[in-house]
This record gives sequence, structure tokens and C-alpha cells, in this order.
Amino acid sequence: MATATEKTFYLETFGCQMNAHDSEKVIGTLLNQGYRQVQTEEEANLILYNTCSIRDKAEQKVFHRLNDYKALYKAGKRFGVLGCVAQQEGEKIFERAPYVSLVSGSASYRKLPEMLARLEAGEGRITGLDDRQTEETFETEFTARQNPYRGYITIIEGCDKFCAYCVVPYTRGKERSRTSGSVLEEARRIADLGYTEIQLLGQNVNSYRDPDGKMSFAELLAAVGQVPGIRRVRFTTSHPRDFTRDIVEAIDAYPTLCDHVHLPVQSGSSRVLKAMAREYSSDWYLERISWLKAARRQISLSTDIIVGFPGETDEDFIQTMNLLAQVEYDCVFAFKYSARPNTPALVMIDSIPEAEKAKRLQVLLDRQREIQRSNYAKHIGQTMEVMVEGQNPARAQVAARSSQNKSVNVNWAKPIAPAPGSYMQVRITASHPNSLVAEPA
Ligand code: SAH
Ligand code: SF4
Ligand code: F3S
Repeated sequence: MATATEKTFYLETFGCQMNAHDSEKVIGTLLNQGYRQVQTEEEANLILYNTCSIRDKAEQKVFHRLNDYKALYKAGKRFGVLGCVAQQEGEKIFERAPYVSLVSGSASYRKLPEMLARLEAGEGRITGLDDRQTEETFETEFTARQNPYRGYITIIEGCDKFCAYCVVPYTRGKERSRTSGSVLEEARRIADLGYTEIQLLGQNVNSYRDPDGKMSFAELLAAVGQVPGIRRVRFTTSHPRDFTRDIVEAIDAYPTLCDHVHLPVQSGSSRVLKAMAREYSSDWYLERISWLKAARRQISLSTDIIVGFPGETDEDFIQTMNLLAQVEYDCVFAFKYSARPNTPALVMIDSIPEAEKAKRLQVLLDRQREIQRSNYAKHIGQTMEVMVEGQNPARAQVAARSSQNKSVNVNWAKPIAPAPGSYMQVRITASHPNSLVAEPA
């Protein structure tokens, strides 16, 4: 149990990889301010939620969590809401949950030490709500990396694309990139810590623009791929609009760049894409896919799809299904459209009944499962290098991942499993729609 004077915090993270990595920076900042991290709300005197607002369900999670634990306020505990719901709802959170003392969006995290000091001095209703004014990125030398084998580096924050359905431009501020020099310095620091895998992050990672004008995104990828000690470089999420051919050329030229690209399409119908303000047609998207398919290495493809966007007809949905069959993705994240505050699509009538959205989603997921079943089966008999991520002793297996980002379960009968972050050669013996089974080679 924490003593009254000891500064302890609990932090729970919702949402995307950017949020997960922001939490690593927030944790580092708190540790540097003399706080100790604990694993339950009950043990902490500061309870923080780093929130996501991408769909309504995600937003509701934080209010449920706050409601579940609000009784702890009487015991002297303080609550803080961080991240995308914080930026979106702002001071309204104090009305809805009066026991919250701190509300801060991601664009204000550099002011956390000052906000924490005010909190400790007994102030309530502290806000950090820098919206689209912010030009700065949040960098800290104190990042407390939570992942033992993958080092995350944010290279660009925010979004200027304003897709009709999406909250991100409002919750994360405008697009702002870090200098290539500072990215490479962090990559070298991560390598020195013993990490061999780096994942470059951005809401639209390939919209990266070096403020020093030294490197394009593809050049930065190549440079990170050449940092001594780095064996795998991943990057997410790529936006089709800024997806240039030199990215494929870089993947071909540097084996450390993983053969996997996540390229969200959202819809196979150009009419819907236009209404979504994605600013590309399905043909234009498929041209990028053809570049990727023409690469020397076989590049694994994954995507995001929204079903039931306002006005999506049966014919539009069939076009999405056709695109799915044509691209043959290895992984698809599909979502039912969710109407979000502040977004342009809010004025469009959310015309597709919930049951119809659910039906389309199921049809899509069923078809995709069959595509993956056949894609994954093609690996049987292949030998490949995997990185160990963990262990599943109950099933006598080691959990690992291929360069293509596929989950590989390696049968492992010996008592001592290889350490997370180590590499091994395996031979694929069986496949499922979402994973491969292997024997050490
Ligand atoms: N910047 C990336 C996407 C980031 S958001 C891109 O533009 O490709 C992650 C995914 O959430 C999106 O690709 C989209 O498929 C989904 N999403 C975003 N807003 C949504 C909404 N209002 N309803 C349902 N899904 C949504
Ligand atoms: Fe959202 Fe579109 Fe920006 Fe992606 S590009 S984060 S979908 S507004
Ligand atoms: Fe969610 Fe914000 Fe990420 S809305 S998906 S946590 S950018």
C-alpha cells in the first residue's frame, strides 16, 4: 500500500500504437518527477487514463472506467484523463466526472511536469488543451520503454487530412515532423540499449517531412535500416495519398526494412472514398498496391476498412469486397462506421441501420478469413527467420513474429525458451487464418 506522502501512479492506455508510445513517454516523465508506477488503481494515488476517441465504443470505455473507480476519490486519490478523449471533450469532462483533476491532450504533454506540480499543490481542474496551434512535438529523454523487444519512435505527429469521419485531426493537432537528425539519434540510442527492432510511428507516417529538409521518408527509412545493430524496421500507418514508389524501392534495397506495409483503403468504392474525403480513387489506390506487388521481395499487405459509411449502397459494398479479393491482404482491420463529434460526416445521415452494418462487417470478415487461410497456407514448407516475443508453456510453444508481421507459434519442447527479442530460423509446418505453426530449423 502506498503511503500518503509517496507519489504513486497507475496508467491505463487505450487506442493506437501512438497512444501506447505516448504512454511510454508519460511514464518516463512521471518517474523522473519522483513518481512510482503501480499496477492497480487501488495502490495508486494518481490514476491516469490515456484515452482513445476513434469510435464511440472506445470513448465510452474511459467513462466506464472512471465510473467504476470514482469511489476512490473519497480516499484522496486523484484522476487524470489524457489523450484523444481529453482533447476532444476538454473541460466538459469536469462536468461529467467532477472528481477528475487533470485533462490533457497529447499536444500538451511537454507541460506535464508543470501540470503535475499544480496537482500536487492541491489544484483541481487543470487543463492542457493545445489544439491545432501546436507546432512542437513531444520528445523526452526519459521514455520508459515498456516493450522489451520493439523500440517505438514517433517521427510525425498529428494529421492534416481531415477525412470526413475521423476525429484525429481535432484530437492530435496538425501534422508536425521531427528532424531526421533527432530520429536517427533516437534510433542509435535504442540500438545501444540492445533493441534490434524499431517501429517508426505516425498517424500518417509516410507524410513525414524533415523540418531540416535533409531526408525524404524513404531516405529516413533507409537510414534507420542502416543503424548498426538494427535488424528490423517497421513503420505504421502509411496513407495512400503520400505513398511514393521510393518507399517500395527502399524496402527492396534494405533487407532490414520489413516486408510488410499497412495501407488503409477504407472502401473499394471511389464514390464512397470521395464522400470520405480520402482524395484518392480505388484505381489510384490499386496502382500503389501494384507497385508493392511488383517488389522483388514479397511484401505482405494489410489494411483498414470502414463499412456502413453514410450512403454506402450494396453496390459500393460489393466494390469493397472486389477490392479485397483483388489485393488478397494478409490482415484486415474492419470497423462499422461510428459517427464522431466535430467531424464533417456528422451532418451526413448515418443511413445504414446498425443490423446492416453488422451484416456487411460479418460478410467481409468471413471472406477475408478465407483469403487469409489460403495466403497463410502458402508458407507451409518455407524456412524463415522469426523474432521471439514470448512463451506459451501450456502449449509448449514459443510465440514469435515473421518479418512480414505474421504470428508464428514455434513448437518448443525444451524447458528453457529463447529470450524475447532473440531470433531463430524456423520451418513452417502448419497454418491457420491468423497464424503459422513452425518447428525450429
Ligand atoms: N491515419 C490512418 C488511420 C488512423 S485511424 C489512415 O488514414 O489510414 C485508424 C482506423 O480507424 C482508420 O483507418 C479507420 O479505418 C478507422 N476509423 C477512423 N474513424 C472511424 C470512424 N468514425 N468509424 C469507424 N472507423 C473509424
Ligand atoms: Fe483520420 Fe484520415 Fe487523418 Fe487517417 S488520414 S488519421 S483517417 S483524418
Ligand atoms: Fe485513438 Fe487517438 Fe489513436 S483517437 S486511434 S488514440 S490517435
